[in-house]
Amino acid sequence: MVSRRVRDIEYAIRDIAVIADQVKKTGKQIFNLNIGDPLKYDFETPKFITEALTNASYNGKNFYADSLGVVELREEISKSLKRKDNLDINSDDIVVTTGVTEAIYFLLAAMIEKGQELLIPGPTYPLYINNTKFYDGIPIEYELNEEDDWEPNIDDLRNKITNKTQAILICSPNNPTGVLFSKKKVKEIIDIAGEYNLPVLSDEIYDQITYERDYVSPASLSKDVPVIGMNGFSKAHLMTGWRLGYLYYHDPENKLIDLKEGIAKLARARLSASCIAQYAAIEIFKTKSNHTVEMVRSLRERRDYSYKRLKQIEGINCVNASGAFYLFPKINLKELRNWKTDKDFAIDLLKKTGVCTVYGSGFGKFGENHIRLTFLPNLNTLEKVYNHIEDFVK
Ligand SMILES: Cc1ncc(COP(=O)(O)O)c(C=O)c1O
Repeated sequence: MVSRRVRDIEYAIRDIAVIADQVKKTGKQIFNLNIGDPLKYDFETPKFITEALTNASYNGKNFYADSLGVVELREEISKSLKRKDNLDINSDDIVVTTGVTEAIYFLLAAMIEKGQELLIPGPTYPLYINNTKFYDGIPIEYELNEEDDWEPNIDDLRNKITNKTQAILICSPNNPTGVLFSKKKVKEIIDIAGEYNLPVLSDEIYDQITYERDYVSPASLSKDVPVIGMNGFSKAHLMTGWRLGYLYYHDPENKLIDLKEGIAKLARARLSASCIAQYAAIEIFKTKSNHTVEMVRSLRERRDYSYKRLKQIEGINCVNASGAFYLFPKINLKELRNWKTDKDFAIDLLKKTGVCTVYGSGFGKFGENHIRLTFLPNLNTLEKVYNHIEDFVK
């Protein structure tokens, strides 16, 4: 027996891996382009960070931490928000979590009652859909418009606000499109949120992984609208497996007092995020290192190569990524004719070539007719991957 809550969870990014395992058993080489984890490729956690983790443990930081997070880490995060985004966020307004994943759990647990709605960008990262449903809420997708470089369709967003809407979520740089929302669109979303008295939730996990366009912090564009930012150490610091992140409240008019207290209770009820990981993370802010810049440099090369190859394949169109490490090409199924849906395409591609992507419909209805590919593998592997995709489509 299993509860409805659990039965309804879907996570295409990992579901496709089950099929990949079956294909692997037949002896085929698998190219994993499905999971957004740089550490599964040739990126490594910087040595000074792993050493800091070992030292934290040797130095006895092995206890339950403060439920809201180690004070010194929250102070460092507060300073970094000032440096990066010119935000004045008091360390008391920061909660350390087990990744952005837990931050989203906390926020939706505290905000969503049965039948209430969360506005999320579509195509969407599946976690937002799953978690909203988990709390008996209704995820409502506002369109990201591929014709407009995947920018949010503001009219669609406005039309979808109802008296049940609890918040508007922004994810920029975006997963799965790999595109940053422009400053203009972010500001328009903030203004609409202000008009309807709604808070904005901002998933900023890829804020430091950008290419041509600069990241804009939604909170920095808001004078009075509450913005709850979520970020973490997984991607920019190559620490996916450590499970460490945080949320922060930009709340100039003190509208979030109840929400903050609710989340503090949730945080206490789950004791704490990993204590040794938090002590190690403090060192990231105290140490000069260019690991993020280096990572972005090699990702840019891999993106350029992947985009160039994709563009040459007939039947596939793609908007180039301006952030994160995903491309989300459209598969013209009508023109290609061999496959009915994006899922058929992705599964057939996997079975015939070993190239494991994620079918776009796994990112909600706006993702249909697409696949998501990471450009995390090295250039050698990418060359093999795109040769396979090219032959397969032909
Ligand atoms: C948009 C987005 N948010 C959150 C996460 C998860 O972040 P964390 O590792 O901090 O839980 C991911 C992971 O892929 C992501 O793509």
